[in-house]
Order: sequence, then structure tokens, then C-alpha cells
Amino acid sequence: MKILLIGGGGREHALARSIADSPLTSDLRIAPGNPGMEGLGTLIQIKADDYDALFDYAVEETVDLVVIGPEAPLVAGLADRLDAAGIRAFGPSAAAAQLEGSKAFARDFCTRHNIPQPRFFAAQDKDTAYRHIDALNGFCVVKADGLAAGKGVVVADTGDDAKAAADAMLGGRFGDASKTILIEERILGPEASLFALLDGNDALYMASAQDHKRAFDGDKGPNTGGMGAISPSPRLDDTLIEQVMDSIVRPLARGMTVEGTPYRGVLYVGLMLTTHGPQVIEFNCRFGDPEAQVILPRLKTDVVSAMLAATDGGLGHFDMRWDDANAVTIVMATKGYPGDYDKGSTINISENNDPDCIVFHAGTARDKHGQLIASGGRVLAVTGMGNDAHSARQKAYDAVAKIDWPDGFYRTDIAADS
Ligand code: AMP
Ligand code: GLY
Repeated sequence: MKILLIGGGGREHALARSIADSPLTSDLRIAPGNPGMEGLGTLIQIKADDYDALFDYAVEETVDLVVIGPEAPLVAGLADRLDAAGIRAFGPSAAAAQLEGSKAFARDFCTRHNIPQPRFFAAQDKDTAYRHIDALNGFCVVKADGLAAGKGVVVADTGDDAKAAADAMLGGRFGDASKTILIEERILGPEASLFALLDGNDALYMASAQDHKRAFDGDKGPNTGGMGAISPSPRLDDTLIEQVMDSIVRPLARGMTVEGTPYRGVLYVGLMLTTHGPQVIEFNCRFGDPEAQVILPRLKTDVVSAMLAATDGGLGHFDMRWDDANAVTIVMATKGYPGDYDKGSTINISENNDPDCIVFHAGTARDKHGQLIASGGRVLAVTGMGNDAHSARQKAYDAVAKIDWPDGFYRTDIAADS
């Protein structure tokens, strides 16, 4: 099959590695990809947000399957356009991707289908927002409704913090994405993520993971896209997984179909494990980044067959096999991230022959001499595999120590509590 993968981050490197490994793949094109993917397919110089060019390319090249990595093209309806042109796309329709694209949509949907979640209120003006913040005694979470690159959530300790966040968001901090905001009850408990594959009818459990969102050790510093992850999550045992599938994922799959917007693709469920059971923090309509870098290396079943079962229907008879191994990934980021940082610093990665260690590229490029350089905030995700969390973690950190990049930093406590 001729497959076009869209995206250029660490998640897409992990996807490219698994797709290239599939016996069904004869020709893999990646737009735009990154230097880490050079040996896995042909890199195409089209940006992941140039939807018209991506669509035209897929049509002209008569691609058999388009795999959409990031959320933005999904929310913008790229899968619908491809579908209408007779090209299979892995990833939900725009209507189904609203589960990530609009937090108010996701919350209202959960209410309609009795899916456990915190109390919430939507607001479009200051008075309404303040009233709800006061009703929750200020102990709340303020969220922009739309996509805000992971920055649209403020967990407030006091009413003043919450009101300041509401003012900024309603004042246009995230443009149209924060015209509507949510004021949510702040719930407590450990967090974990669950990934499932949906085909518009059936839902198949895939794997669990846990990421580390704060920039620095000890969960200090600003929120990031994720500084490391482990799979499986040490906090989700079989009983909890069944509970999440039963109370959240299957009702969601049924509900989306009943409402005429069947969900096909990967569903990422962000959970808080409260004393009243697991509750939904958020849905994402794609693999996580860096969660993909710990989940996909554990997948033993051919990933392309799984994607086809999700897009064409047929997950009811599909079986996914997973390696019992644990995987831990350490993100190496440019100093300054998630704030301002410089691009262009030199990275040297020595040859790696260890099958239990994978260096995924996220924000890398080549300069005019072919030298590898940093070109983003999160730059590498170094994954180690092992029989338990401890050995996986050790593998990953040993490989990180061999990477020569003075302008990078990483957390030293990823998966330390596992
Ligand atoms: P989100 O972008 O929705 O995943 O939110 C980012 C982070 O904010 C989550 O990982 C949680 O730690 C926290 N958070 C979001 N919603 C809530 C909530 N209702 N109660 C407590 N913490 C929350
Ligand atoms: N690591 C969080 C995300 O992918 O949304």
C-alpha cells in the first residue's frame, strides 16, 4: 500500500517506524517528517497545516491510506475531505474530532451519555464566569473551549487566580478558541491515560500510559506538552481498565454513533482516578505525544491492519497483541522550553544498535552541511524497553546520557515513582 503519514513530531516518528515495519506498506511518504524518519520513508516538503496541498498530493499520488498524526487537520475536516474523494483516512471526521476540538462539546456529550466527569459550566461573559467561580469557592479549573496548543487550561487555587484566567481568556488570549470558556469543579487524584481504537461501532482497548507534564523534576515548573511517559500506566490495573471501557469508552462509541457522528480512529482518554472512580479530564482524537513513543513500540500486531480495521469497520473481530515489556520515554527539550528558546544548536547522536532503545526525533532538522540541529522545543524522545519499569527507565536514561547536546535539558525523574 502507498501510505501518506501527516506530521513531523515525535509521535509521527513512532507512527512512521511502526508503519514502515508493516508487511502491507510498500511505499511510505511522510509530510513533512523530520530527519529521524529519513530511513523509514520519503519525506515530502508539505507542512502539516497546509491542508489543501496535502489533499491535492494524496489525490494526485493516488495514496491508499492517509494517516493523520496531529489533531488540527482532523478538527479542520481533512479526513472528511479525503473520504469524500474516495481516499481512506485514519483519524476521525471533523464532527467526531469535536471531542477534542471543543471542550464544551465533549462535556455536554458526556452529560447526555452519563459518562463520569467533574461538574462544569460554560461561560461567554465575565459575570457568568465569576458567578460559577464563586459557586465553586474558587477551587476550579478554567479552560478555553477550543484548541490552544495545550496552554488553554488554568488550574486555580483561589477565586482571584480563576477570575484572572477567565478575564484573560474571554479577553481574547486564545482568539476564537476562548470565546467560550469552561469553569470546572477541580477534582483530585492520580492521572492516567487510556487509548482505545474505535471503528464507528466497536471499541477495542489498546494500552495505557502516563505522561509527565511539568517542565522540571518534582513536577515543578510550567506545563509542557509532556516531558516523558511510561506505558503501561502503573496506576491502571485490569479492573480499572474494564471500568473505564465500560463506563466511558463504550458509552462514547455508542453515543457518537447514535448521534450520527460515528467515531473512527484512536481515542485518547485523559483520566483522573478519584475516590468516586475514574472521571474524564479530557479526550484527544489522536495518539498522545510523547505517549505514542511508549505505546507503539509495545504493539506486536501490524499497525496498518489495525488502522484499516478501524477505518473500514471490523474491530469486533480484531485482536491486538502487545508486548508485556514496559516502555519509558525521556523527552529532551531545548533549554528555555516551554518559554522562549533558540533554534539551531548542534546535536550529535552516536550509533545505536540496542533493539531495546529507540531515539525518536521530534524537533530536529539538518543545517546546510547535513549536521543535525534542534529546531523546536521538544527535540528528542528517547525510549527504553525492559521487563519492568525500572529496567526500561534505566535503558532510556543510559541512552540519553550518550547524546551530545549541551543546549538540551531533560527531567531526571520520569517514571521514578513506578
Ligand atoms: P487538559 O489540557 O484538559 O488535559 O488539562 C491539563 C491538566 O489540567 C490535566 O492533566 C489535569 O492535571 C488538570 N485538570 C484539567 N481539568 C481538571 C479538573 N476538572 N480537575 C482537576 N484537574 C484538572
Ligand atoms: N502528552 C499530551 C498530549 O499528547 O496531549
